[in-house]
Amino acid sequence: MKFPQKGTGRSMVMAELESARKDDVRWRDGRAFSLVFYPGHEIYEVVKEAYGLFFSENGLNPSAFPALRKFEQETVSMMADLMCDPSACGNLTSGGTESILLAVYSAREYALKHKPNLTQPEILVPTTVHPAFDKAAHYFGLKIKHIPVGPDYRADVAATAAAVTDQTILIVGSAPQYPHGVVDPIRELSSIALSHGILFHTDACVGGMILPFFRRLGQPIPEFSFELPGVTSISIDLHKYGYAAKGASVVLYRNRSQRRGQFFVQTTWPGGIYGSPGILGTRPGGAIAAAWAVIKHLGEDGFMGLAKSVLQSTNYIRDAIGSIPGLKILGQPHASVLALASDELDIYQIGDELAVLGWHLDKQQDPPSLHLTISYAHEMSREAFIKDLRACTEKVRGSIASRWASFQTAAARALSKVLPISAIRFLSRLASPGGKRQAAMYGMIGSLPVQGEVDELVLDFLDRLYSPEK
Ligand SMILES: Cc1ncc(COP(=O)(O)O)c(C=O)c1O
Repeated sequence: MKFPQKGTGRSMVMAELESARKDDVRWRDGRAFSLVFYPGHEIYEVVKEAYGLFFSENGLNPSAFPALRKFEQETVSMMADLMCDPSACGNLTSGGTESILLAVYSAREYALKHKPNLTQPEILVPTTVHPAFDKAAHYFGLKIKHIPVGPDYRADVAATAAAVTDQTILIVGSAPQYPHGVVDPIRELSSIALSHGILFHTDACVGGMILPFFRRLGQPIPEFSFELPGVTSISIDLHKYGYAAKGASVVLYRNRSQRRGQFFVQTTWPGGIYGSPGILGTRPGGAIAAAWAVIKHLGEDGFMGLAKSVLQSTNYIRDAIGSIPGLKILGQPHASVLALASDELDIYQIGDELAVLGWHLDKQQDPPSLHLTISYAHEMSREAFIKDLRACTEKVRGSIASRWASFQTAAARALSKVLPISAIRFLSRLASPGGKRQAAMYGMIGSLPVQGEVDELVLDFLDRLYSPEK
């Protein structure tokens, strides 16, 4: 596309924006089971208005915008209180990944300062931990050891204890982890860290804004925050169950000396003395103001109301899945994140059929499953979802089309064993990046024996995804 020579009128631009979204998932109608957390029209409008008020302000320089500094400090302080240590410190970040990158980076800086014998610092994570930790290890030159989880999909405490070495700088657990929605045994994991003088991070990106309210509603939620003495840092996303605008998460530390390594300064730059608390330079004022505003607007009462709805939808969906022959939930999820699987049917095909009907559920692997993060929007859609899930499951069980799809998956699996990787790369290029039917592609990827080959396929896919369409 050429750079436009002339401008286009406002109404035309807006019309084009609107028409571009016609194939986007309808999250307002509760059709997305990840990615968007919609709190209903009224709260959404408050968030939007707050964002709009500080739309142009820049959190890079708090002396120019003391308002943003106030919002950030107060948001961090309110979150420290919710996480059971009002004296904890931290920062607002652009999302879970940035919070995690900062927690890992500052753990590295802290360890390098306090442990002079480190040669190859390493972090210990369960295999179910979010890939942001792999990204952090990759960016910051750390070794990452993935510890297989138990049959309940929770971190294996004994295996984690056995994996600690004198190079371990950080142990991680999730509350809950994304794939199956279970909370790792944070008490046990963090006490291993404490006994070795190692830092411990709880990834509560998903759970930080829902687990405390589920607990207050009487749910048996295990401890995961600063009430445990071994927990030294926590990440909590406000743009998930905090229902804030995208671009808002918090990273918290038990004390300021731990956080210090997170800051970056350059004091000899001709442009002046430069200091920044996180990875970004310019920071969106709108996201900071909206995060503060939604917490102030809802308060504990408001979040309890939303959590009650989420709990009801989760129970409804979980019970209904239990009544559909052939389907099951993996593990015993603690909150509102479920993994839907089947021992008899190809769950990816069921996912494809649901996608054709406009439902967005991510495909997961090892074992194959579909992901459901249930939020407030599903109060409106849960009955329709279960009706369609029932119909799609029966369709996959019975139809010739689905036998053809099973044949494609089996053929793709068989081909992946005999064809050279170059041929597989060529074939995988035929799959459209935005296509609704991906079961065969997933089947093939799942059976490739060498991890490096899968990585290459996904790199090809990303390259196509971010290139002009042919
Ligand atoms: C458990 C967990 N941690 C971290 C993240 C990363 O969050 P973000 O996508 O905001 O970077 C996610 C995202 O889904 C998550 O589920």
